[in-house]
Amino acid sequence: MHELQRKSHGMTNNQDPNNVSRRAFTVSSVAAITAPGLLGCSEAESRDAAAPPEAAPSAAVTAPVATSQTKASGGWEEGTSIPAEYYFEPEHYRRDERFMADSLWLMVDHESRIPKAGDYFTFEFGLGESVIILRDEKKVVRAFHNVCRHRGSRICRNGAEPEPEGDQVTILQLKSSGNTPLIRCPYHAWTYDLQGGLTKASMMPKGFDLSKNGLLPCHLRVEGGHIFINLSQGDTPPEFDANFAPYKTFATEYGLADLQVGARHAYTIKANWKLLIENFLECYHCGPAHATLVTTHNWDYGLTDDEKAYRHNELKTWLGGQSKDWWSYEGKLNPGFVTGSLDGKPVAPLLPTRKEWSHKTTDMTTGLSTGYWQAYDDYVVVMRFTPRGPELIDCDVLWLIHPDAVEGKDFEAANLMALWETTFREDIYLVENQHRGVRSGGYRSGSLSTSVESNVADFGVWYMNTVAQA
Ligand code: FES
Ligand SMILES: [Fe+2]
Repeated sequence: MHELQRKSHGMTNNQDPNNVSRRAFTVSSVAAITAPGLLGCSEAESRDAAAPPEAAPSAAVTAPVATSQTKASGGWEEGTSIPAEYYFEPEHYRRDERFMADSLWLMVDHESRIPKAGDYFTFEFGLGESVIILRDEKKVVRAFHNVCRHRGSRICRNGAEPEPEGDQVTILQLKSSGNTPLIRCPYHAWTYDLQGGLTKASMMPKGFDLSKNGLLPCHLRVEGGHIFINLSQGDTPPEFDANFAPYKTFATEYGLADLQVGARHAYTIKANWKLLIENFLECYHCGPAHATLVTTHNWDYGLTDDEKAYRHNELKTWLGGQSKDWWSYEGKLNPGFVTGSLDGKPVAPLLPTRKEWSHKTTDMTTGLSTGYWQAYDDYVVVMRFTPRGPELIDCDVLWLIHPDAVEGKDFEAANLMALWETTFREDIYLVENQHRGVRSGGYRSGSLSTSVESNVADFGVWYMNTVAQA
């Protein structure tokens, strides 16, 4: 896939310095379609600093580039936003969800969430999927569908569902996270071990085979300290190793597997998953809507040429660089900022793999909606986007820091979280506000900027030509 990715970049002649995407989701998104079942990675900052800015991947590998508008089925035109019904109609959402379940490796969490044998939690995806993620007695991480093999009950409680009420009500059910030596269904008490094997099913007929009634496992990989699952029903999951090569390099560079979660926050977003992805595919909105973020990062692509030249000179002076091209500092923090903090000062000790302040930030995706990492020298913020319905998204955000850092002594959670809490709250507002507009009768597919929204355009091409046709 990475081959395809590079090839696709090589095939584009777009040298427009404005056409920089700090969040190159489309690369992976496009890859996901070109080879169904694949999930790609992309890395924005770590590309060769001398290379041209990352242009939108040529859709030549998949579909015509969205530079000249062409009619697609249903009257939709490339280079315009996706038609309204795809953002909220249940039938479209159901198809989207099945496509993701079959074709993607979904990012679940950092494995430090379940450090001990018997630790577990449930991961919910889409309208009806729930998966038990646990660590067994041998410390192996496992994933099972949270569905009893008897008559289908949820075994562990879904996180958001209320407990049954009433003083005399006595349902015994595992909570949505905790520690347990066994897994017991609340309905008829079929009981499973931590490898998913059925160990007890009372009053079943002679000949009933316990060994044929274990929990159904999900495809699972643990890489760079993060847990990924694939929910396809087939025996062979999508390719992982080749597609995750860039992520593995990134995970090693920042030592992700050894970090601890210094803070986490769960968000619920009332919008369609595609609007959130599109938001992360462009920084057109960063200047207008993320004042704090563009104070920290060199990401205000809406600057005038004079302002860009001024910023370039500021950066060059601060960094001692020689480049004449302002975009060569993509990925660099603004003068005075050594990390993604409000005041530019460190928010935690240097990560074990980082020996000095590099004044840079690196982002990484594993494709589409599932995982996004933004790394600094003292922390890595991790976002996990999970569709939960046509108009609902779960987003867990983790802040990974040095494994020995102690809160109150080495870091303050509020300080650590401040920049991305602010940024993400702004993004949530923007995306929910957009969803309300898209849902109204006054919405029409709108024209996209060819210089700063080409990734959004490519995402639309991919979605309309592949997912919407699946
Ligand atoms: S449904 Fe689980 S034991 Fe009957
Ligand atoms: Fe944003």
